[in-house]
Amino acid sequence: MVREQWSSWTGFILASIGSAVGIGNIWRFPYIVGQNGGGAFLIPYLISVFLFALPLMMLELAIGRHLQTSVGPAFRAIGERFFPVGILIVATISLILSYYLVIASWVFAYTLFFALNRPVDFTAFTNSYYPLVFFLITGLTVFATVRSGVREGIERLSRYLIPVLVAILLLLVAYALTTPGALAGIAFYLAPDTSRLADPLVWAAAFGQAFFSLSVGMGILLTYGSYLGRTDIFRSASVITVADILIALLAGLIIFPLVFSFGLDPAAGVNLAFVTLPSAFAGIPFGAVLGVLFFAMLFVAALTSAVSMLEVPVATIIDSYGYSRRRATLLVFCAVILLGLPSALSYTALRLELFGTPLLDLGDYIFGTLGLIVAGLLVSTVAGWFMNPAWIFDEIGGSRRMQRAFLFLIRYAIPLVLLAALLAQIVRSAG
Ligand code: PFF
Repeated sequence: MVREQWSSWTGFILASIGSAVGIGNIWRFPYIVGQNGGGAFLIPYLISVFLFALPLMMLELAIGRHLQTSVGPAFRAIGERFFPVGILIVATISLILSYYLVIASWVFAYTLFFALNRPVDFTAFTNSYYPLVFFLITGLTVFATVRSGVREGIERLSRYLIPVLVAILLLLVAYALTTPGALAGIAFYLAPDTSRLADPLVWAAAFGQAFFSLSVGMGILLTYGSYLGRTDIFRSASVITVADILIALLAGLIIFPLVFSFGLDPAAGVNLAFVTLPSAFAGIPFGAVLGVLFFAMLFVAALTSAVSMLEVPVATIIDSYGYSRRRATLLVFCAVILLGLPSALSYTALRLELFGTPLLDLGDYIFGTLGLIVAGLLVSTVAGWFMNPAWIFDEIGGSRRMQRAFLFLIRYAIPLVLLAALLAQIVRSAG
């Protein structure tokens, strides 16, 4: 069977931007900036992005493009003994997807509640049976998209939705900048506190956020690259990266002016999106309109990211075992929904917790934080040391010097910083 391909470069770029731009940009990035030194955080963040995350993205695209196959078989092509490593990465991303879908489904529910002009209370919402219903609906939407194929499903969804996302984003930035707290908000967001740069945890946070936000190290871009014809990998990766950074920065220009205008706590972190911001929307004229726009934007971002995560296990099953796309999607969908149930139930009246932490948060820590770092480590080490570098150079082009620098990053620098980030995470959680 001929491998499906993107209909055009633009289609591929939009789908990849859809993958990168997610809840991580709109809600996680602003509060991580707020907690880690404001404007000064941009220094470690941009270093992490351009020096480490971008090369890893190029590597993934190059592997997928070169081997024309998805994660499991790609690792097998590098060496038979690496197949289980590929499967481990596929399993990690499926687990991340299982709780990411839960958060996406809350966002969807909030969009609808605001559209119906019904105030939402997070506790009342999570204590009802609604979260399960919305979890299923969101799961089905993601499932149906991936089942329709690379072009007709994934690419088409992004072609329609990414422009909508950008339009809402710009509208909300324009609105937020006219609110009374705009200046105070921007000052808090971007005023550099350079003393924080001496804190290694700030650097670890920057690495973590960079890899999470760009969705690298998880085999998504490897899989997307396998649907590519010949293309300029450096240019493609740069466009995706810059779009991701711009959208994250703009999201901060919405969040912080609103936080200061509404008198909310800028350090509310996790609660900001689902508790403090919605209650502020409920209290102002046209707040319902703002609420719909904000959550619709967040939902679009989450949906296109979830689709990219689902494509990883689906493509691996199709390519490794010869399943049809329909069967593979159905199989993975059932598994992911089952895996996600504990997370979906963890905030309900059942309160599924372990060590006093809701299962969703625990999953995010184990798979979304530690798992993501380990996966990045595996991708860069296996590809850097066991793949023929000539293959990679053939894909990425560039001068000999650039190629040598690239190989150095993949073999030494990226594994080293990821290892350091992993240790920092473990120390932080132990302390
Ligand atoms: N990049 C997405 C975001 O910023 O929300 C989330 C994400 C997708 C993380 C895929 C990790 C991943 F493998």
